[in-house]
Amino acid sequence: MDQIELEQYLHKLPLGAIRYYDRVGSTNDEAARWAAAGGPHLGLVVADEQTAGRGRLNRHWYTPAGLALAFSLILQGRRLSFSQETISQITALGALAVCDALNQDFSTQIPTQIKWPNDVVAGRRKLAGVLAEAHWQGQALQAVILGIGINVAPDSLPAPEELDFPAACLSDLLGQDVDRWKVLCRVLEKLFGWLPRLGEPAFIQAWEQRLAFRGEWVQVSTGLQPPLEGQILGMNPNGSLRLQLPGGEERELLIGDIHLRPVDRL
Ligand code: BTN
Repeated sequence: MDQIELEQYLHKLPLGAIRYYDRVGSTNDEAARWAAAGGPHLGLVVADEQTAGRGRLNRHWYTPAGLALAFSLILQGRRLSFSQETISQITALGALAVCDALNQDFSTQIPTQIKWPNDVVAGRRKLAGVLAEAHWQGQALQAVILGIGINVAPDSLPAPEELDFPAACLSDLLGQDVDRWKVLCRVLEKLFGWLPRLGEPAFIQAWEQRLAFRGEWVQVSTGLQPPLEGQILGMNPNGSLRLQLPGGEERELLIGDIHLRPVDRL
């Protein structure tokens, strides 16, 4: 793939512009620089390889050349007429788009779910991660950079000891090689379909329908307090997670740097 081929491949999508790199530090950083320098709304940065890919909680995100998908989309603040609460759902937008794309093309083979708030899992293993970063200037939202990483080939996965959650890749799940660029195109199509509907009941419902580990005992870390243990009940209309604590009390967990980890309590 190169810049021209990618532009041709994605020409039907309403992208602002595309920047393709064989190798980059992080597509999120590159997109943020571009956005700050006047990069367009729906500008897309794609890299074959990332040398400093980042995940949530500043974890390293592994993107070796030729084996994975790593891309970031610029959402210019002046073009986002959503409330702040809705803006925080942009990470889920990425996860939902990945799920929908995989279920459309590879339907029954890959039953994807969303590990709240925004990891895509298949068969209890993480297949894709989403990192949405908002850039503010005072009170004004400059841009949100929506970065998505998808594990495609087996060698795209880091060593098990480096993982915070078991990982899976698309080609293992399907038992065949996967066209990364087709996956990218499908994910973007789904993303553009959901973007205007962010925050709508239909969006939240679609997100909740994909909710992984419903009814299971899990551990939720927020970083601000000791991890909470509880049973996932579902989600609220604002996208927050409903967790029932061992004593029966229900907690509402707002979107943030929260991850889930199943515990041996089943
Ligand atoms: C996570 O699961 O913690 C989120 C991972 C997000 C990885 C993607 S790859 C494209 C974009 N560039 C980055 O540096 N990170 C995101």
